[in-house]
Amino acid sequence: MADSQKKPSVLIFGGLNTCSRALAALLVPLDGEPLVSLLRIVDKYSVHPATTYLGSEFPKILEKPEVEYKQANLTVGTTIASVFDPPEGQGEFDYVYDFTGEIRTDRTEVIQYSTTYCIARMLGLEAAKRKVKAFVRIQQPFYETSSKGSLETDDPKPAGAVGIWWHETLRGLAAIEDLNLVILRVGFVYGPYTSHGIIATGINVASVYGYMKKPMKSMWSPGKNPNNTIHVDDVAGAAWASSQWISGLGRKAANEAAGVPIPFHNDKTFVKEHPDIPAHNTKPVAPLFNLVDDSNSTLLSVGEVVTSFFGTNFEFFNMVESAFLKWIDHDIEEINEQHVSGWTEMLMKANPPISKTPLTAYMDKYTLEKHVVAFPNNKIKQVIGYQLKHPEFNHAAVKDIVDKWKEEGSWPVIN
Ligand SMILES: *[C@@H]1O[C@H](CO)[C@@H](O)[C@H](O)[C@H]1NC(C)=O
Repeated sequence: MADSQKKPSVLIFGGLNTCSRALAALLVPLDGEPLVSLLRIVDKYSVHPATTYLGSEFPKILEKPEVEYKQANLTVGTTIASVFDPPEGQGEFDYVYDFTGEIRTDRTEVIQYSTTYCIARMLGLEAAKRKVKAFVRIQQPFYETSSKGSLETDDPKPAGAVGIWWHETLRGLAAIEDLNLVILRVGFVYGPYTSHGIIATGINVASVYGYMKKPMKSMWSPGKNPNNTIHVDDVAGAAWASSQWISGLGRKAANEAAGVPIPFHNDKTFVKEHPDIPAHNTKPVAPLFNLVDDSNSTLLSVGEVVTSFFGTNFEFFNMVESAFLKWIDHDIEEINEQHVSGWTEMLMKANPPISKTPLTAYMDKYTLEKHVVAFPNNKIKQVIGYQLKHPEFNHAAVKDIVDKWKEEGSWPVIN
């Protein structure tokens, strides 16, 4: 095979608990030709035995000859350098997918800085040093956008400490000038084997209310609360398309085609004391794309899809927002009481009963809060030509998710 036709070798960092298993399944499918010559996945979890939820498909992908898994602590700089080393006799890795970052919203700023910012920044520096042809960063939707939607050129507000550090990470990467970087700013991710995030929780909780034959009630009035969504297979597909796009262009041309300045949203004092963070008065430029489906999902539409799937309704509490905010702070347990005990009952009554599942009906503070996330998706379609595989969040999507959970024994089958 001529060198120009050689399949790329790729590295995926992090995201075992979010989107990287779906990307692995795209790059090295269970049935069919792999798209890559070598896939190395690196994350902090052990896979044998599994210390995080892997789903029933991923362990089979790990068995493929093209795939290797390395458990590594990426907060250590020398570890990062060593996991970039290609196997003996092979050239540097071609593409890198950075799916790292702390998704728990209750972590301290110090942890966010070291595990979200520092890891990604070190990965970016190492990738640039080794001249990888593509470095694709997934930006989780920790923003409050305008309800009309934030274009790539707009400046949505990072949501809380988690949002500030995820956003700062983009500046830290964008500032690495010769890094062949593409940023994908995703909506709320859902899909098979995807147990994290507010959509998965919404599905689980809706099933409880369906089981109890009661309406599921939301705290936030049915006004315009966009909660744009994206299927995990489209996160994978767009990441692959983005790497192919920039590898043919290089960063400079990619900036010209799709670059936007990334504004500052952090604490100036903290940044002054950390020379690895770009100065507050700089706005590094990077190619950035919103990535959501065509559903224009809102809290109401997502709520209606999941509740009607389980044969119940989505309704709203008649409550003043300020009263509710106080309630969240003090009574998360009380808010959760009904559906958490309902879920436990479903697990016990299931045939066979389920004693262990990664799925929960517990809604944490972040899940209960109001989110406005709207990212118009025209740019990635126009510039990269990406075509969504799952343009709509609908009953078929929920069925596919629940069926796969049933099949692997994570979901209560009640008959
Ligand atoms: C990873 O390495 C850092 C720095 O040495 C250390 O503080 C941390 O505890 C390590 N994490 C794990 C899970 O071993």
